Amino acid sequence: MKFVQILSLVASLATAIQVDRQGRQTYNGYKVFRVITQDDSSAFESKLESLSAIDLTHNHGHTGEQHFDIAVPPESLAAFYALNYTADVLAEDLAADLALEGELEPYPGLDKSNILTTASDAAAAALPDASWFNAYHAYADHLTFLQDLQAAFPSNSELITAGTSFEGRDLQGIHLWGSGGKGSKPAIYWHGNVHAREWITSMVVEYLTYQLILNYSNDTTVQATLDNYDFYIVPIVNPDGFVYTQTSSRLWRKNRQTRSSTSAVGTDINRNWPYQWDGEGSSTSPGSETYRGEAAGDTPENTGLREYAEALTSGNGIKLYIDWHSYGQYILTPYGYSCTATAPNSSKQNSLAANTGSAIAKVYGTQFTTGPICSTLYAAAGGSNDYFQDVAGAELAWAIELRDTGRNGFVLPANQILPSGIEAWEGMKYLWSNF
Ligand SMILES: *[C@@H]1O[C@H](CO)[C@@H](O)[C@H](O)[C@H]1NC(C)=O
Ligand SMILES: *[C@@H]1O[C@H](CO)[C@@H](O)[C@H](O)[C@H]1NC(C)=O
Ligand SMILES: *[C@@H]1O[C@H](CO)[C@@H](O)[C@H](O)[C@H]1NC(C)=O
Ligand SMILES: *[C@@H]1O[C@H](CO)[C@@H](O)[C@H](O)[C@H]1NC(C)=O
Ligand SMILES: [Zn+2]
Repeated sequence: MKFVQILSLVASLATAIQVDRQGRQTYNGYKVFRVITQDDSSAFESKLESLSAIDLTHNHGHTGEQHFDIAVPPESLAAFYALNYTADVLAEDLAADLALEGELEPYPGLDKSNILTTASDAAAAALPDASWFNAYHAYADHLTFLQDLQAAFPSNSELITAGTSFEGRDLQGIHLWGSGGKGSKPAIYWHGNVHAREWITSMVVEYLTYQLILNYSNDTTVQATLDNYDFYIVPIVNPDGFVYTQTSSRLWRKNRQTRSSTSAVGTDINRNWPYQWDGEGSSTSPGSETYRGEAAGDTPENTGLREYAEALTSGNGIKLYIDWHSYGQYILTPYGYSCTATAPNSSKQNSLAANTGSAIAKVYGTQFTTGPICSTLYAAAGGSNDYFQDVAGAELAWAIELRDTGRNGFVLPANQILPSGIEAWEGMKYLWSNF
């Protein structure tokens, strides 16, 4: 009864969005298509709005067939079919796939048997229980996880805040260091979940952080890496968007910034970086999933992240930056703004990326496509990689698109969290041994 009332209330507000009792969009009747656009992709993109379709991702690169992945609401299916595009069905029923993703599980607490016993960590608390990686979790639990991870490695870590979101949340992360002491080495800097719906990214970044701590004392590669680099890791750089995916719309991508000039909400933080801003692959339209903002760097999240990066650059410099995304299985090097500009050390960056992909594939056979962003996947002006490469001076400035290649997309079943983390860990160990 209550359900019906909510539905009719929402309908009377002139929107067709169906929500459940908790107010979360159900996506009932939505289908997901891979539309083959060939050279017609911008013409197709202009039709998305009239379909009220959700723009999931696309590939306009030179590798593979050019396509758009979209989620089409039931009331637009007839109009979509009438466009007569060649399309594969990726998901017959998005709501059913959402159910398979699993419920958010509570924080499992500490694994009392797992206390690191290195001499420097006499004060160490137990590590979080590894069953954390068997399910997705609420935002507040991610913060608890990070706090407990820090407490398990007290002499070699601290919590950090890389800025504040539009709604006032901290961009919380963790800084890890080795035998040289805090802040004495070049940085390895990771961002996760800049796109709110890419839930696998924060889980994998947390898995990698957990393994760094767990294996510091007894894996020579890990020990050498942490002794030679300071890690700065922010698993969720878009907390407002992330919370919104958990409370309202699972497929939300941008931040939750409002602007007086428009009723549309949200800016794509990853098209807002103040370098080569406002170019191909970013939108001037506030309703677009790739809306670039009104001015370069005008999102609060970007401001904080940029200031944090500036401090690292003027400290010991940045060896490696990775922006973790999903989906598609790509390891991407600069640039996004141009398909013809060549990044510094591009042949080294691209061969390292290719070999990192091979190291990942050795574990379960998961294939990653590698190469520069623009020519491999799509143009993306105002992205973090270009900024970290040319402005922050990172030696390697990558984006990694995690599982899968489209079947489940952003809604990756929880039983793929651990395998995604394990294969990424092997890729990172290869990279650290060879970069
Ligand atoms: C749809 O496309 C197919 C193949 O491209 C073509 O044969 C057919 O006539 C088109 N139908 C309509 C209604 O345009
Ligand atoms: C980290 O160390 C643990 C304990 O030795 C080991 O079981 C595990 O394989 C290592 N983790 C990875 C992902 O290499
Ligand atoms: C590595 O360290 C972990 C955690 O301290 C421990 O459980 C494991 O037995 C160690 N493994 C090896 C191979 O020494
Ligand atoms: C290019 O690679 C060399 C060798 O690894 C490194 O010393 C240099 O700093 C890199 N250049 C840039 C611009 O990152
Ligand atoms: Zn993304």
